[in-house]
Amino acid sequence: MDAVILAGGLGTRLRPFTYKTPKPMMPLLNVPIVVRQAEFLRSLGATRLVVLVNASGWKIVSVLQKSGIFPKIQAHYESRPLGTGGALRSALDMMQGEWFFVINGDVCFFGDLPQLALCDESVIVVHEVTDATGFGLVRCNNETIEGFTEKPGEPTSGFINAGLYRLWKQDVMLLAGGESASLERDLFPILSSRGRLRACVFRGYWSDLGTHERYLNAHYELMQEMAGSEGTPPSCDFQVIPPCCISPEARISSSASIGPYTTVGAGAVVGEGASISRSVILPGAQVRAYAQIEGFIVGDLT
Ligand code: GDD
Ligand code: MG
Repeated sequence: MDAVILAGGLGTRLRPFTYKTPKPMMPLLNVPIVVRQAEFLRSLGATRLVVLVNASGWKIVSVLQKSGIFPKIQAHYESRPLGTGGALRSALDMMQGEWFFVINGDVCFFGDLPQLALCDESVIVVHEVTDATGFGLVRCNNETIEGFTEKPGEPTSGFINAGLYRLWKQDVMLLAGGESASLERDLFPILSSRGRLRACVFRGYWSDLGTHERYLNAHYELMQEMAGSEGTPPSCDFQVIPPCCISPEARISSSASIGPYTTVGAGAVVGEGASISRSVILPGAQVRAYAQIEGFIVGDLT
């Protein structure tokens, strides 16, 4: 069965890092988000992957192909952003089955998803949060959806759209072809008003990585779950304060101190006497000697 990754957004809220690295390729604990998503979609039973990207999306397609998780990957390139709905609608001919999974390219799920039972309606996965600002609020009573408020202005607790769907092709056909459209604003309200959309609650760990704050927080939360300093090279001569996730391909001076809650990517260089905590050092980034870094994302912007 097919799975689709929506990966053609501009990643504006994660700039400047997303000028060079498309958001879905940003690493989460040193693994590109999109690779984690491919593994997750495989675990849901998907056998074929379709990636909806913009012109710089070849980087995403290439990293997915190298991962070997899906034997077959198809890419659909947009010459202009069509929005989540317009992008999916324009790629509909590429889908082989009558229904397929769709995931936003910047969300991560850890934990068991309730079986997305094959029902006659399309399904939207929802997750309970204390503050829905910045997300799509889904008012639902068990599986029944009562309404949507995309990006509520006021802080509200409740269920949000977790960015994972199982959609029937015929439902997506309701959107006009060739036009820009939003799944969240243009399609889901219509589907739910026609009784064609159900909610499915995910109770595991969920995060959207699309802002600096959320990106860092997801690293802290996931490292908190890790035992000790998983992902740290077994023999290292610098100081490590767990939890940390350090690529064996990082070059770290013996007098540097790393951690706690710190990730260092492949090819990153940390100079002598530098001290880094609660931070993500992206692949190829350089940290100068004696730098004191706490609570930052550091990238290679050259
Ligand atoms: N192909 C393509 N074309 N993809 C797009 C486009 C487009 O024009 N616009 C956005 N996307 C992709 C982005 O790359 C991202 O992976 C996904 O669609 C969602 O876009 P975001 O920009 O991250 O949306 P959001 O986080 O503000 O809100 C969405 O996600 C929330 C959950 O994380 C909505 O779906 C909310 O309802 C939801 O709660
Ligand atoms: Mg997002």
